[in-house]
Amino acid sequence: MSKLALDINNLEASVGAIEILKGVDLEVPFGEVHAIMGPNGSGKSTLCHVLTGRSDYTVSGEALLDGEPLLDKAVDARSRMGLMQAFQYPVEVPGVALATLMRECGEERGWDSDEIDGRIAEAGKRYDMDRFLDRSVNNDLSGGEKKRSEVFQMAVLRPKVAVLDEIDSGLDIDAVREVAEGIERMRGPEVGVLMITHYSRILRYVTPDRIHVMIGGRIVESGGPELSARLEEEGYEGIRERLGIEVPAEGVAEKRPADFFTETPFDL
Ligand SMILES: Nc1ncnc2c1ncn2[C@@H]1O[C@H](COP(=O)(O)OP(=O)(O)O)[C@@H](O)[C@H]1O
Ligand SMILES: [Mg+2]
Repeated sequence: MSKLALDINNLEASVGAIEILKGVDLEVPFGEVHAIMGPNGSGKSTLCHVLTGRSDYTVSGEALLDGEPLLDKAVDARSRMGLMQAFQYPVEVPGVALATLMRECGEERGWDSDEIDGRIAEAGKRYDMDRFLDRSVNNDLSGGEKKRSEVFQMAVLRPKVAVLDEIDSGLDIDAVREVAEGIERMRGPEVGVLMITHYSRILRYVTPDRIHVMIGGRIVESGGPELSARLEEEGYEGIRERLGIEVPAEGVAEKRPADFFTETPFDL
């Protein structure tokens, strides 16, 4: 096993003529939880999409998962290598029970049924998901329950790299705490967690080992957990000023409404 769960070097991504990621460098060692924070439109979700393999980006640079190159692999191969993303907007999959999905994923990974059932039982108990196992994936779940289901699925499949894109968005404060506790419980020597968040409130309940600030498609600052208090004080605007980062002429790109519908990196 390599020391680094995820090792990203000079990652660039563009859509047509629009450059979104402009040279991202990031190292997430096994056993650590890293947070990426940044204003809307800074490229955080794009980083997730590029790692999981969504096809609409032109990508250069390198991303290694446990030392293995990731970017030349198909989406399903990346998953089998140990990459897993929790979605900002988890999709409902009517007709497919959560337990069935987990068993299929386990078989795909070559686990025998005892191992799969054992993992489902253990994680089901740990994340209080037992009563959702026979129900369709995410169907009629509350926002908080969907996010809990995402963390449960990670606990069953035990990825080497877990990427969580704004897992706290749209949740009330109790649900944020619950999901945060779930992430803390996911910590372990065999996983590196990359948690993306717009707001610092989830960091009251998860203490990341490192916090990285992304602005304009680059990581402009990295630090320990104390960086979140500073961010809260300064705001992203303050960071831009302190570091002398110019806002592009067209202003800070805002999310287009269409992005809401294209958040999932898989073609369903
Ligand atoms: N498929 C795409 N086509 C065109 N522009 C895109 C696409 N994906 C992202 N962008 C643009 O890239 C910028 C960064 O978006 P995103 O990664 O979603 O930022 P964040 O997650 O930090 O809010 C935004 O201006 C967004 O509109
Ligand atoms: Mg985003």
